[in-house]
Amino acid sequence: MSTQTSTSSRKPAPAPERLGILLQGMGAVASTVVAGCIAVRQGLGQPVGSLTQLGHIRLGKRTDGRNPLIRDFVPLASMEGLVFGGWDIFGGDLYEACSHAEVLEPTLLSKIEGALREIKPMAGAFDQNYVKRLNGTHIKPGTRRDWANALRQDIRDFKAKNGLERCVMVNCSSTEVYIEQGPVHQTIEAFEAGLDNNDSTISPAMVYAYSAIMEGVPYANGTPSLAADIPALVELALQKGVPLSGKDFKTGQTMVKTVLAPMFKARMLGVRGWFSTNILGNRDGEVLEDPESFKSKEKTKLGVLDTILQPETYPDLYGNLYHAVRINYYPPRGDSKEGWDNIDIFGWLGYPMQIKVDFLCRDSILAAPIVLDLALFSDLAQRAGRKGIQEWLSFYWKSPIVGAGLYPEHDLFIQLTKLKNNLRHMMGEELITHLGTEYYEEEGNV
Ligand SMILES: NC(=O)c1ccc[n+]([C@@H]2O[C@H](COP(=O)([O-])OP(=O)(O)OC[C@H]3O[C@@H](n4cnc5c(N)ncnc54)[C@H](O)[C@@H]3O)[C@@H](O)[C@H]2O)c1
Repeated sequence: MSTQTSTSSRKPAPAPERLGILLQGMGAVASTVVAGCIAVRQGLGQPVGSLTQLGHIRLGKRTDGRNPLIRDFVPLASMEGLVFGGWDIFGGDLYEACSHAEVLEPTLLSKIEGALREIKPMAGAFDQNYVKRLNGTHIKPGTRRDWANALRQDIRDFKAKNGLERCVMVNCSSTEVYIEQGPVHQTIEAFEAGLDNNDSTISPAMVYAYSAIMEGVPYANGTPSLAADIPALVELALQKGVPLSGKDFKTGQTMVKTVLAPMFKARMLGVRGWFSTNILGNRDGEVLEDPESFKSKEKTKLGVLDTILQPETYPDLYGNLYHAVRINYYPPRGDSKEGWDNIDIFGWLGYPMQIKVDFLCRDSILAAPIVLDLALFSDLAQRAGRKGIQEWLSFYWKSPIVGAGLYPEHDLFIQLTKLKNNLRHMMGEELITHLGTEYYEEEGNV
């Protein structure tokens, strides 16, 4: 593979009037983002948590007073123009999906019932070996090649039916079992042959990603499953001019972790142990009870500390760190998760201290704005001529995919700085380095 990304930044083409958002998996997260966008459009709520809707961006010097809304600065598709569709392995409609998920209040859902009922998931591409706890009933027949053909046709039909020129796809499906890359994942030719041979090491998530890429649709992977992050699909995305990003939405516990860990490191405080546990009672929790699906999640959750703390550079501070992550399915909590962290740190002369965090969060409420932002930014990236891995979207990911030979950036605020600088770069504005000397040079004080 020659290069894995392209940051050739031309100014983005104007935003489309309407943008299709295709969701792979229409469970708790997906139904909450769809219902939320409809509710916001009807003035029934605010898009809290969404950088694209609420965030501002500083331009130029601090003294310039330029701080527009991000959505006024870059040409993003508008909330009014979003059209939702997608796939699930269970039938029904989005009103039923929202009711089943029990994330949003029935009184709110009743006000938008009509719009939700109109959205019906298309049949999913499913292999139960990848999600052991689910027994899909609304699924596509045939081989992996048949699934890909059918998914591609679904995308074309969805665009035609809704009069759309542009679409993006976000994977909000159940976490698949952990798998390692094999030979079939290495080249486009091997992957194409694998589809033809119905090679069982090609996961359903990969077939969706492949279909999106082949249709020129930007793809973002909100789950820990191995999907577009294989050499064959990264290369295909470059060829087809498709932006990719992933993986695993950074919502609750890991968001907190990627704020606290840089704090310890910045102050050169040691960390001896970090025990993270979660209880949650939604379908995601049920799927993650399966040890093989949990392994995918564990990988993305465990990875962050090593990269942030750099134990090989700071062996005395972080070389002996015990890090454990647990997830327990506990039905009474539904979608309201409790993420509990116990952190054993040490300071001056090695004296121990403890920090405890108990985050009583709502999983899908935290994930929904991220899905919206990723959809809008992925579409923007493509209109700006970007393709392949979009590292500037690392801000949203537990385990950001990056080019070969690079390590991911996990620190939430470095990720935010990177994201904003990429927007400035796209629009031909000066990057902000936070050097800060220019103000004093003007005064002749430096
Ligand atoms: N909510 C969060 O904070 C958060 C954070 C990070 C990642 N995630 C990930 O997002 C994903 C969705 O989470 P959720 O809470 O909505 O779970 P969910 O179980 O409510 O929804 C997943 C949906 O995907 C469907 N599905 C499974 N296999 C499919 C396939 N092959 N094709 C189409 N549909 C399929 C299921 O039927 C289900 O409706 C999970 O993988 C989860 O790990 C969620």
